[in-house]
Amino acid sequence: MEQTLYLIILIIALCSVSECVQRQYHFINERKTWTEAQRYCRENYTDLATVDNMNDMNELNESMNGGGVEYIWIGLQKTGRDEWQWSSGEPALYLNWGYKQPDGKDEYAGMRDGEWHDLGCSDNLHFICNNNPELIVIRENLTWSEALRYCRQNHVDLVSVHSEEIQRRVMNVVKRASTAAVWLGLRHSCTVGIWFWVSGETACYQNWAPGNGTSEEDCEHTVRSGAVQSGGDQRWINRPETHKLNFICSRY
Ligand SMILES: *[C@@H]1O[C@H](CO)[C@@H](O)[C@H](O)[C@H]1NC(C)=O
Ligand SMILES: *[C@@H]1O[C@H](CO)[C@@H](O)[C@H](O)[C@H]1NC(C)=O
Ligand SMILES: *[C@@H]1O[C@H](CO)[C@@H](O)[C@H](O)[C@H]1NC(C)=O
Ligand SMILES: *[C@@H]1O[C@H](CO)[C@@H](O)[C@H](O)[C@H]1NC(C)=O
Repeated sequence: MEQTLYLIILIIALCSVSECVQRQYHFINERKTWTEAQRYCRENYTDLATVDNMNDMNELNESMNGGGVEYIWIGLQKTGRDEWQWSSGEPALYLNWGYKQPDGKDEYAGMRDGEWHDLGCSDNLHFICNNNPELIVIRENLTWSEALRYCRQNHVDLVSVHSEEIQRRVMNVVKRASTAAVWLGLRHSCTVGIWFWVSGETACYQNWAPGNGTSEEDCEHTVRSGAVQSGGDQRWINRPETHKLNFICSRY
């Protein structure tokens, strides 16, 4: 019991040392319109900043080095259907509008003092880009623990699939694997009865195959870890951690 809990804490602690954040934000000290800023970010990074949750929001704040008094562009824009979406095309589920914002007139969003406001696209503002981690399939057959060690030594981490966007990217790369299932950074704790991402991300988004991923796994034999099917509908399944599978590392 205690040993398992210790392992969870160890895994999560190691993670914060090895930079587990999923997005890296970069403050750009140049003034551009929203569209020019988007072009700059897409050429030099992944995109104009996407913010999915409170964690991202904190990272975004930190990337600004306290320069919070002026408006800066983030990657949020209004669609023709009057909905807000990210520059990457993802729907905006997490929002952090300021008081009485958006007030309906403008098509793009900027941030000031950690709060979002709708602004006109012709404003020339500083902006924030983000890099998404790259996903690489390692075609070696390792146990889950060996795979975790491999990723942390050579790249950043075993991949955490904490959003639909990352699941889509996993589905793209996992076809290259030579095993029917491929390890993810997903682990079961019998002590607490939960599945968790080793990166410390919350396990809100899920894509389990039917019958997999329940809180009551078989705890009598070996610890279970999570893998994604490399074919079929590419859902997540649980496997004893001693199985030897290909795995997916993330890196910047
Ligand atoms: C990408 O960054 C370089 C160097 O800062 C800059 O010269 C270039 O204009 C940027 N790309 C775009 C499309 O703005
Ligand atoms: C971001 O920073 C601003 C001040 O610069 C602060 O008011 C706000 O609460 C911060 N937000 C988060 C989520 O840390
Ligand atoms: C890994 O296992 C698969 C399936 O058993 C096998 O086809 C593949 O050759 C193995 N790869 C290595 C590097 O041993
Ligand atoms: C997990 O999913 C696989 C693949 O769909 C299925 O064969 C297996 O029976 C499931 N496991 C359980 C415990 O239901």
